[in-house]
Amino acid sequence: MILVTGGAGYIGSHTCISLIEAGFDIVVYDNFSNSSKKSLQRVESIVERNIPLVEGDIRDKEVLQDVFDKYDIDSVIHFAGLKAVGESVQKPLEYYDNNINGTIALCEVMRDNGCKKIVFSSSATVYGDPKSVPISEDFPLSATNPYGRSKLFIEEILRDIYVSDATWKIILLRYFNPVGAHKSGLIGEDPNGIPNNLMPYISQVAIGKRDYLSVFGGDYATNDGTGVRDYIHVEDLADGHVKALENIDKFDGVKAINLGTGQGYSVLEVVKAFERASEKKVPYKIVGRREGDIQSCYADPSYAKKVLDWSAKHGINDMCKDAWNWQSKNPNGYGS
Ligand code: NAD
Ligand code: UFG
Repeated sequence: MILVTGGAGYIGSHTCISLIEAGFDIVVYDNFSNSSKKSLQRVESIVERNIPLVEGDIRDKEVLQDVFDKYDIDSVIHFAGLKAVGESVQKPLEYYDNNINGTIALCEVMRDNGCKKIVFSSSATVYGDPKSVPISEDFPLSATNPYGRSKLFIEEILRDIYVSDATWKIILLRYFNPVGAHKSGLIGEDPNGIPNNLMPYISQVAIGKRDYLSVFGGDYATNDGTGVRDYIHVEDLADGHVKALENIDKFDGVKAINLGTGQGYSVLEVVKAFERASEKKVPYKIVGRREGDIQSCYADPSYAKKVLDWSAKHGINDMCKDAWNWQSKNPNGYGS
């Protein structure tokens, strides 16, 4: 049985589908601080089976222990965490408590129950402002905000756990920019309030909820002056987790692996691709740079290919098409 913390969230819900389709049995653990029970109900309708769910906080060791008592947990995929960069600057203590103390509590309960395999949701944010692109796993690590620092600290904590006990198997998946939605249009990204991220913001402009997109910076040294990122379809990301679990027993030590496509797109290229996919106009205005943003960030994905035999299958057109399918079928997300 695989324990999926944060399994009701955006990436977690898509990964639940891929895990079940690959034949894994799962139990989801979530406190619904940033998700809806509807996402799991829809996952159940897609996979046509019930998924065991425990409502709880990863910092609550008693509830976690109950899960280990009730289910025979072999491995953990650990998505649960807070993820908004700007909010983390305003609420550093909440972010460190939730993300770091939560991971420590989870690992303690895992250790106490002899469960020592974990796949952790890390982020390309751990590369800080990279010296060059594409970014490979051996690049120097740094952080510029509490969210990123929590990811960096957790990576280090997991390395220390391995040093103390080499029977642990630990994979750090460093995601680039997850976008898109399940092809059914039943599950997708459902941000609270005004979206911070590009793709959900564009989707809300296309559907008419927002007037225009503010493009943060038109003076970067990129082909059209706007920031470049490695957008990756959430279904590809979900498959990366399946590959990680299928291969984890082969690995020694802590493996950090990039999950990206290796292809960078500028903000304006994404706008154009979205307009094509949705057949809607996406008005935009170029405004000043957003504080903390970097110019260009995309993966060297060759290590994931080598050790997991994984590479992204979907291009930017699929990502926009599926994001639009979800947005147009669910104009108010799970509250629709
Ligand atoms: P999400 O907010 O949709 O999902 C996270 C889930 O964890 C939510 O369902 C939330 O309710 C749950 N959760 C949070 N704190 C919890 C706690 N203390 N106990 C139990 N459940 C808790 O986010 P997501 O986009 O699916 O991201 C999943 C993971 O991937 C996160 O760790 C995030 O930091 C990481 N990540 C996300 C991105 C991205 O752009 N979406 C990029 C890189 C890394
Ligand atoms: N952008 C705009 N307008 C917007 C939103 C974004 O122009 O309204 C631009 C940004 O300036 C950037 C690009 O679109 O150039 C992507 O921005 P996102 O906010 O979607 O993503 P980021 O690359 O800034 O950050 C994301 C996650 C972080 C994670 C990081 C690396 O939000 O949590 O990817 O994985 F750390």
